[in-house]
Amino acid sequence: MAENKDLQAKIVSLCKRRGFIFPGSEIYGGLANTYDYGSLGVLLLRNVINNWWENFVTKRTDMFGLDTSILMSPQVWEASGHTVSFTNDLLDCKECKLRTRADSVIENYFESIGKPQSVEGESLEKLEDILNQYKIPCPSCGKFNWTKPRKFNQLFETHLGILEDTKSLAYLRGEIAQGMFVNFKNVLDTMRPKLPFGIAQSGKAFRNEVTLGNFIFRTLEFNLAEFEYFFNPKKQKWEDLYEYWKKEMEKWIVSLGVSKDKLKWRVHSDKEKAHYSKHTEDLDFEFAFGSEELFGLAYRTDYDLKNHIEKSGVDLKYTDPETGEKLIPHVVEPTFGMSRVFLALLTNGYVEETDRVVLKLDKKVAPYRVAVFPLVKNKEDIVEKAREIFEMFVDAGVSTDWDDRGNIGKRYYAQDEIGTPSCVTVDYQTLEDNTVTIRDRDTMKQERVKTDQLLSYA
Ligand code: GAP
Repeated sequence: MAENKDLQAKIVSLCKRRGFIFPGSEIYGGLANTYDYGSLGVLLLRNVINNWWENFVTKRTDMFGLDTSILMSPQVWEASGHTVSFTNDLLDCKECKLRTRADSVIENYFESIGKPQSVEGESLEKLEDILNQYKIPCPSCGKFNWTKPRKFNQLFETHLGILEDTKSLAYLRGEIAQGMFVNFKNVLDTMRPKLPFGIAQSGKAFRNEVTLGNFIFRTLEFNLAEFEYFFNPKKQKWEDLYEYWKKEMEKWIVSLGVSKDKLKWRVHSDKEKAHYSKHTEDLDFEFAFGSEELFGLAYRTDYDLKNHIEKSGVDLKYTDPETGEKLIPHVVEPTFGMSRVFLALLTNGYVEETDRVVLKLDKKVAPYRVAVFPLVKNKEDIVEKAREIFEMFVDAGVSTDWDDRGNIGKRYYAQDEIGTPSCVTVDYQTLEDNTVTIRDRDTMKQERVKTDQLLSYA
């Protein structure tokens, strides 16, 4: 897809203007690649995460939730291979001091000459050869004067302890998966699940990323949701489970209103795959800056449990209740970047019409499902009636906005821009016949409806 810088800039501006997302630490000039969710952003994000949980955990009998610590023993990350293998390739421009990723500089260059190719996972020597062979210039200053590419580890370091001399190194979690692997035995002992089953959680992950400035697409901390789906490889083929989860992942994001034609599965090359994976595919979405990873699906085999058994000395095997067989289950891992879902929903839903901007968000995730307006704010009966209706929605668990400022047209415009599917106006006629006007965001059609039927519209 062609890059659409214009659309991206409009989304960023809408997010700031309407309280979806603010730059982090803004009053101190900002902290690069950190963002804060605003009053509407937090509603949208929570709706997305709650919907994920409901779909993949609550509705299923084979999924067990957790909420594990961000700080974990450093031994976890040694066993998982992250202290050694969780790296990116860094490149600095000696002229303008741009710090960037070697793979993205090369890939963007090939894309610009109409020969797109992936170099993710290539050796440092190979990346250097390519840079030199094509004399790939710095995308910022246009000069060709790079440092050698070098590896840097993405785990965020921190220190535990308060006294300088007794402080010890720890990491913020680079993926939330490890919290589920290290609690595998706890889940077996407390929930007695039978294979196949999954352990799920959502929460923040932290990565020391060299980012390309695509807003919240790649940030230092981000919201993630994923599950480890454990199975007996003698009884089930990983390929079958893989196909099943591919469909479920796609079905979920489409259920939130994302167009199927903006989604595409892409298989990782052997070099691109993470160190723990035997097979990985990404579900890419057409963001405004190009088609990029939204979700990932990895077949992690028994890599993690095996390593944790070896390094911790704890028996994390599962005993088949029918055969008595002891085994280390294998894992298929669907992973969902929640911050990226947020951006995908805004990108997918942003529409400019002749005299309005509309955010076409599905009502399952829109910050407000409905907005209630008293036609005028100086007529007590009308305001009171509108308050009653507002409370009726809130009591029914419907996220509802209240607006009594300006004229109705302006209020519609403001609600369209934040994606509110329906607006209810209480007017003089309401006082006579208990009907209100309900206006649909997408069609702009207005209907007169009895107040006792309103809940069915939300
Ligand atoms: N446990 C597997 C795992 O963490 P990953 O592909 O490294 O896999 C999972 O990350 C998902 O997190 C990705 O599919 C992507 O949606 C999202 N993601 C990764 N890095 C991110 C970042 N720096 N900022 C925002 N989202 C990110």
